[in-house]
Amino acid sequence: MILNRIEKFLMNNPVRAAFQMHLEARRLMALGGPMGGGRALEVGCGRGVGCRIVLDVFGAGQVTGMDLDPDMVRRAGERLAGYGDRVRLYAGDVTDIPEEDASFDAVFDFGILHHVPDWQKALSEVFRVLKPGGRFYAEEALEKFIRFAPIRWTLDHPMENRFGHRDFIRGMEKAGFRVLDNRPTVGEWFGWYFAEKPGAGVRGKTER
Ligand SMILES: C[S@@+](CC[C@H](N)C(=O)[O-])C[C@H]1O[C@@H](n2cnc3c(N)ncnc32)[C@H](O)[C@@H]1O
Repeated sequence: MILNRIEKFLMNNPVRAAFQMHLEARRLMALGGPMGGGRALEVGCGRGVGCRIVLDVFGAGQVTGMDLDPDMVRRAGERLAGYGDRVRLYAGDVTDIPEEDASFDAVFDFGILHHVPDWQKALSEVFRVLKPGGRFYAEEALEKFIRFAPIRWTLDHPMENRFGHRDFIRGMEKAGFRVLDNRPTVGEWFGWYFAEKPGAGVRGKTER
């Protein structure tokens, strides 16, 4: 679902960028650690701040950013022009990712699946495009947040088939992931998650 004007303003400003860089990225890093090279996909990349974090903070060699909204992809293209062929961007739907099976070392979700009516299908697509041993880093807004009255009145989110903290963990497990760490906020309004696609041998957290 494309953002309404209010949420687009909330996403496309320097305060949001600072929050994403200094809080969200740090929490995901604490859960999963850096990538140390490799190919990453950011689903719902918005205006491209997350792609920059994936390259400069998590250490991906290359990042593909995709978003349902072509205007967001255009903004991301302007922001990331200096990265040359380390960045690839396109408009697309996370429930039907136009990528080969097992083609990414990591997938990043900075708060998009709560906008997706069939978020379970999105998780199975994320699982499909990851290599065995590939990592899934996710930050999500949870049901209690999107049902909170002032949020409901101002922002547009799908209201059917929503997920709370436990539902999201179960959804990842059902898609095939091994969920290795998670951190909900107080009140379970938001959550941070780190999961792995099994298949490349069992890794302990300290080995990441
Ligand atoms: C809350 S914004 C987050 C944007 C960015 N990740 C950030 O953290 O600033 C959600 C983004 O997901 C995108 N989006 C919504 N539904 C999507 C879908 N089905 N597939 C891909 N992107 C989608 C929206 O266009 C929007 O850019």
